Amino acid sequence: MGVVASAPAKVILFGEHFVVYGEPAIVLAIDKRAYAKVELRQDKQLHIHSKNLNLTAHYENGILKIEHGNEKEAKLKFKPVKMAVDKVLEKYGKQVGLNIEIESKVPVAAGLGSSAAVAASVTAAVGALLKVEMPKENVFRITYEAEKVVHGTPSGIDPAISTFGGALLFQKDTGFKSLDVKMEIPLVVGNTGVARSTRFQVEKVRNLKEKYPQVATPIFLAAREIVLRAVDAFKDNDLETLGELMNINHALLYGLGVSDESLEWLINAARKAGALGAKLTGAGGGGCMIALARNENLESVLEAIQRAGGTPFIARKTDEGVKIEQG
Ligand code: MEV
Repeated sequence: MGVVASAPAKVILFGEHFVVYGEPAIVLAIDKRAYAKVELRQDKQLHIHSKNLNLTAHYENGILKIEHGNEKEAKLKFKPVKMAVDKVLEKYGKQVGLNIEIESKVPVAAGLGSSAAVAASVTAAVGALLKVEMPKENVFRITYEAEKVVHGTPSGIDPAISTFGGALLFQKDTGFKSLDVKMEIPLVVGNTGVARSTRFQVEKVRNLKEKYPQVATPIFLAAREIVLRAVDAFKDNDLETLGELMNINHALLYGLGVSDESLEWLINAARKAGALGAKLTGAGGGGCMIALARNENLESVLEAIQRAGGTPFIARKTDEGVKIEQG
């Protein structure tokens, strides 16, 4: 009998990139999840199958052997999964072989935290299969280790939200606290379909910051202020202010060079269709944008994004972080 665990994707409402340097950010878990099913094997091998990526491979003495799909892609996507499994086995002193089946509903390389959602669900599922006590704090730490393999210097925001769910006010070194968001946040996510690498976008910002420190400093200060104002706007149920702040946040990210033509098309289309605010979400350079709209405008914003060439969906906040679904 196997165990199935799941974990949510996320959208960053405010503060991506700035968060890598210790500034605060606001992030929501959304109702798209990654699922991991794990079973014990008789041997000591790790076998991984990703249904959505159509990849199958196994590790033999630490070496990846492809059974189905593209080798380069499997190496990239399965590395954090192996890392998460190794960390759980090491931490809890177990040596077992596993079959892992991944089924993710989260668009990949799109800024929605798919790799963290997969790593968190794998970590929790392996822990439950081995019947070890695994507090969410441990799922977070292990997922964060796995994320470092993929992104280089991640802030930890993706593993935190995939583990804990809900809405978080996240800060790299001081930790994070749950934001009590009572209001509904009507959001459309628009996928440009342009795949990009978080590591590359983060490096781009680092280079710009190092080249123009005096220019970058006030941009970073403005980003911090946006987050603080947004926290107040959540308390006041003030959608209009949140929209305005999203627009300013996007302008700052644009200034740092992480928007691109595909994002600008969708963002402009959403604003023209009546969105209160729109911005890129996640690392940028392609991937996804988000638009905030009043409920009555949500459909027209969605249609406008679609007409502009994006793949939109309406995202709802979920309070459910990583969880065991079965077993
Ligand atoms: C990625 O979802 C958000 C970035 O800020 C990187 C990170 O925080 O690790 C771009």
